[in-house]
Amino acid sequence: MKWNEAVLSLKSYQPGKSTDEVKKLYGLEKITKLASNENPFGCSEKVKESVRNSTHSFAIYPDGYATMLREAVAKHTGVKETQLIFGNGSDENIQIISRSLLGAGKNTVMATGTFSQYRHNATLEGAEIREVPHIDGAHDLEGMLKVIDVETSVVWLCTPNNPTGKYISEQDLLSFIEKVPEDVLIVLDEAYCEYATAEDYPRTNQWINKYKNLIILRTFSKIYGLASFRVGYGLADEDIIQKLD
Ligand SMILES: Cc1ncc(COP(=O)(O)O)c(C=O)c1O
Repeated sequence: MKWNEAVLSLKSYQPGKSTDEVKKLYGLEKITKLASNENPFGCSEKVKESVRNSTHSFAIYPDGYATMLREAVAKHTGVKETQLIFGNGSDENIQIISRSLLGAGKNTVMATGTFSQYRHNATLEGAEIREVPHIDGAHDLEGMLKVIDVETSVVWLCTPNNPTGKYISEQDLLSFIEKVPEDVLIVLDEAYCEYATAEDYPRTNQWINKYKNLIILRTFSKIYGLASFRVGYGLADEDIIQKLD
């Protein structure tokens, strides 16, 4: 069959063993699974109660505009409803961005040793991947700037970074964004922002009003312990959101 070459270059996903399998295999009683960064405390009791009391009909398609969620997230983040996009987890938002901006003849810049989905999606879209090694687990922002050229369409930053845990300070991030050409989309993956307590960790919600080439990705999977719900959202200028939608 006529498979895309990019698909053939990828290995199929090998899911990790479940905690029950590992317990049985090694005769262990207690396992702490770290591989997927799932929340070990689970989700709020309020979620469980809400699901138990739900009268939602499974025969009905979900609201594609995610109206109620959109209203709540807009209120929570202080941005306009039209500055939000929702996806099946950040995974889908990464895929939507990649499908919309990457392709043959374009390149994309990311750190070596960051969330694997950036590379995975770029490979599928046939874009050249420019990886810049970390310095002590932190993004080498100067190095990343150096490899951006006219063919670069997306730059990926993960802060705090999966898997190294290092974050980008407000000053460093602002200075980086100011230097990236305005026609290059900067994806700021903040899947773990709620865990960052350092004073110089930036709170970026309002930055989308100033930087028209910035999209911030967040997820309900981590801090809220709702990975199985598959809900992620992005904040960006209305023009970016409209195009991605
Ligand atoms: C940095 C980062 N971004 C995105 C995701 C995907 O999150 P979601 O469950 O919302 O698809 C993960 C999950 O491990 C992650 O570590």
